[in-house]
Amino acid sequence: MLKGRFLILLFLIPIFTTTAWTKICWAVDFSFKEHWKFPIPPQGDPPKNFSDLEASLDPDDCGTCHETQYEDWKTSRHSKSMGPGVAGQLHSPWVNNPLTCTKCHTPLAEQSSKKISPDGYLTKNPNYLPELRSQGLICAGCHVRRHIRYGPKPLTGKVKNPPHNSFVEVENFGNSKFCKPCHQFDPGEYRINGKLLQNTYEEWKNSPYLKKGIHCTDCHMPERRHIWQGIHNPEMVKKGVKIETTREGTDVSFKITNSGVGHNFPTYVTPKIVIRGSVFDKNGTEVLRSVEEKFIGWNIPLNLSKEWYDTRIPPGKTLSGKFKINPITAGGKFRITIRVFPDDFYSRFFKALLDNPPNGIDTKKIKEAYNETQKSNYILFEKYWDLSFKEK
Ligand code: HEC
Ligand code: HEC
Ligand code: HEC
Ligand code: HEC
Ligand code: HEC
Repeated sequence: MLKGRFLILLFLIPIFTTTAWTKICWAVDFSFKEHWKFPIPPQGDPPKNFSDLEASLDPDDCGTCHETQYEDWKTSRHSKSMGPGVAGQLHSPWVNNPLTCTKCHTPLAEQSSKKISPDGYLTKNPNYLPELRSQGLICAGCHVRRHIRYGPKPLTGKVKNPPHNSFVEVENFGNSKFCKPCHQFDPGEYRINGKLLQNTYEEWKNSPYLKKGIHCTDCHMPERRHIWQGIHNPEMVKKGVKIETTREGTDVSFKITNSGVGHNFPTYVTPKIVIRGSVFDKNGTEVLRSVEEKFIGWNIPLNLSKEWYDTRIPPGKTLSGKFKINPITAGGKFRITIRVFPDDFYSRFFKALLDNPPNGIDTKKIKEAYNETQKSNYILFEKYWDLSFKEK
């Protein structure tokens, strides 16, 4: 009896120590739910064999070896997620617990000055490293738990004995579930007109992209690049929409199709896209009374109490419209422009804070954030038609 068990044990030991088996065991150990437990528990003491460089959570240090990812990440919004707009309102009256914001913006325990004590109170966090907070969503926030690195299956051959005790290879690391915790509200969270304020993952899940196996990373991290471009980037937006215009007499029609965005265009309440039609006179001056504007977006008031309109375009769908040219000038031009305001909501919000600053607001930071939101708009599309109406 006893002998038999001993034999089984002897038989199992070599199998479990082969790398193939450890890999399978690791893979089973990984769950998105565990990985994204908020706030992410403190990393604890680094393994004894780690050098200072391997023990560091600072992205600059990861960057000494992972230069490509570091250079790309630096250009992304993820590296700016603790910018002045967020930092400036962390101690405002409506944020009674800053951890509700740091959850997505700086998710590591080491990035928060406060923590929840076992009896449920906000207390000082002894693990706080301020230099990590200001760097936003850092490498370690997505890749490191208890000093263990997690990453996708390498595309090329695996390096022998890599530093930081190697890494755990996760089969579906680039799955949309990875992005969900920060880009999707839970069903019980805030809704406007019955719709969740943040619903990007569900929008994607209900689109044809799920069936085609096209995940967030396929569009936002092409070739695993850490760029995460979105609404702030004209080239990225151009990849996602098809714009057609036609003129017949005094009618100029347009069609905007969401041909390559994996969710609503746009997905959040923050951007506003303005389609403007207007006449320009012979001297190139816009005739103000000819201006007509139409909007794409989910527009809401600052108190989030209701929606004014929701004209976002779901994947594969088209928004069409028409401008009627008023033949008020001869020899002029008619123009359509499509201008994107990526931060329209925040621009209005920061302006209201500055006009009437509540206690706890860092007005210097909010002013800086406001100026940034004022500068982020750009022209996505522009077209002119010559007008050849006879002078009356
Ligand atoms: C820990 C939370 C978190 C995770 C996980 C996360 N993001 Fe983000 N993401 C954010 C935050 C916060 C912002 C807003 C940053 C800012 O502008 O302050 C953001 C912004 C973005 C943007 C906005 C770009 C723009 O122009 O507005 C894109 C695109 C994006 N994320 C894609 C992804 C994808 C794809 C994944 C999955 C691989 C992902 N994110 C995972 C928190 C997260
Ligand atoms: C569920 C994840 C999540 C939580 C929680 C969250 N945010 Fe965000 N935040 C995002 C994402 C994603 C974006 C980018 C998309 C957008 O603009 O809505 C963003 C954008 C922003 C921006 C505009 C970009 C910038 O950097 O200026 C501000 C300001 C902001 N959040 C403040 C806050 C504050 C304050 C809190 C806490 C009350 C908070 N957020 C909580 C995910 C989150
Ligand atoms: C928002 C989460 C997020 C952040 C922040 C992030 N990564 Fe990644 N990283 C990913 C995902 C997801 C993948 C896998 C993408 C895929 O499979 O398509 C990945 C892949 C990688 C890979 C494998 C690349 C390859 O070509 O095989 C390395 C190395 C890496 N990341 C290092 C870093 C470093 C260094 C930083 C900081 C400069 C960083 N990451 C920041 C989510 C993140
Ligand atoms: C001393 C150099 C060095 C430092 C510092 C370092 N790494 Fe690595 N890392 C490597 C090497 C080498 C590999 C294995 C080869 C590869 O896949 O790039 C690796 C592998 C990884 C992988 C797995 C890549 C994959 O293919 O899945 C991730 C994720 C990762 N490192 C993240 C980090 C993060 C995050 C930091 C900082 C907190 C960091 N590394 C610091 C050298 C380093
Ligand atoms: C088929 C390609 C594709 C897929 C799949 C995709 N996106 Fe996007 N995404 C885009 C394009 C193109 C834009 C720029 C246009 C826009 O802002 O809507 C964008 C914009 C964004 C933005 C900027 C904010 C905004 O209001 O639009 C965020 C955040 C984002 N995506 C997150 C995600 C997440 C999270 C997933 C997965 C659940 C995902 N995306 C899947 C193509 C894609």
